[in-house]
Amino acid sequence: MRTVHSIAELREQLSAWQQQGLSVGFAPTMGNLHRGHISLITAAKARCDKVVSSVFVNPLQFGPNEDLEAYPRTLSADQSQLQAAGCDLLFAPPVEEMYPAGQAAVSNVIVPELTLDHCGDSRPGHFDGVTTVVAKLFNLVQPQSAFFGKKDFQQLRVIKQMVVDLCFPIEVVGVETCREDDGLAMSSRNQYLTTDERQSAPQLRQTLLAAKDSLLSGKPVSVVTDEAQKVLMAAGFEPDYFNICDANSLQRQNGVYESAQSWVILAAAKLGKARLLDNIELIATKTQQ
Ligand code: PAF
Repeated sequence: MRTVHSIAELREQLSAWQQQGLSVGFAPTMGNLHRGHISLITAAKARCDKVVSSVFVNPLQFGPNEDLEAYPRTLSADQSQLQAAGCDLLFAPPVEEMYPAGQAAVSNVIVPELTLDHCGDSRPGHFDGVTTVVAKLFNLVQPQSAFFGKKDFQQLRVIKQMVVDLCFPIEVVGVETCREDDGLAMSSRNQYLTTDERQSAPQLRQTLLAAKDSLLSGKPVSVVTDEAQKVLMAAGFEPDYFNICDANSLQRQNGVYESAQSWVILAAAKLGKARLLDNIELIATKTQQ
């Protein structure tokens, strides 16, 4: 696997592949890779001739009081994992390469509406930073397919919308969330958990599973949400949101679930220093009349 740090080197390698008619799959990351990221590379390898990944801790998507400085940077371990997974090219630019005129001066890509609620509400500006960097990376790599984890459900939905709205000729593929044996969704932020917190952490997934069962058994959204928040607080979480939404519009829902609907429960909760994110889908089993 070759690692490049500049746009010029990246373009040089990509144009050689383009001339050979090879398809490119792309998995952007912020590094500190775990099995979840590697599953994106595996999915890309299954579909495309060449696989490109990026490691870039994007300052635009961090708020002023977030963990930009503390975010783990582990490039050489990331390179070994990517190489072992069969990645062909890694783009690991410094911040100046991506934002040469400074972060405040960069043109922004904003997806409205889908970014207002959930993580968009608790992390203002976060998705603008994500879509801006992903649009830029898409223009640089020009992949045929791009791979994102379903753990970040709202991010995946927002990127799919950006690709449609801005006519990127790219297929966006959502890859299933990778979990620890006890159900905890893999995340770079899990390493902020203390030993005790790590024991409580799977409760987020368990609460989502229980909430899904409750909705399927006909309990109303308001009751399910209240119960879930109470369980999470009792387990030591500080719930940020626990929202039951339409899986496409991400609009919050009321009332009871019907089997012709596709819903998703989006959850974010702080446990000590870690902000954990997870979700569960309720997929329509009947067609709408
Ligand atoms: O999901 C992530 O790691 C980041 O948000 C992404 C998509 C690499 C953009 O920086």
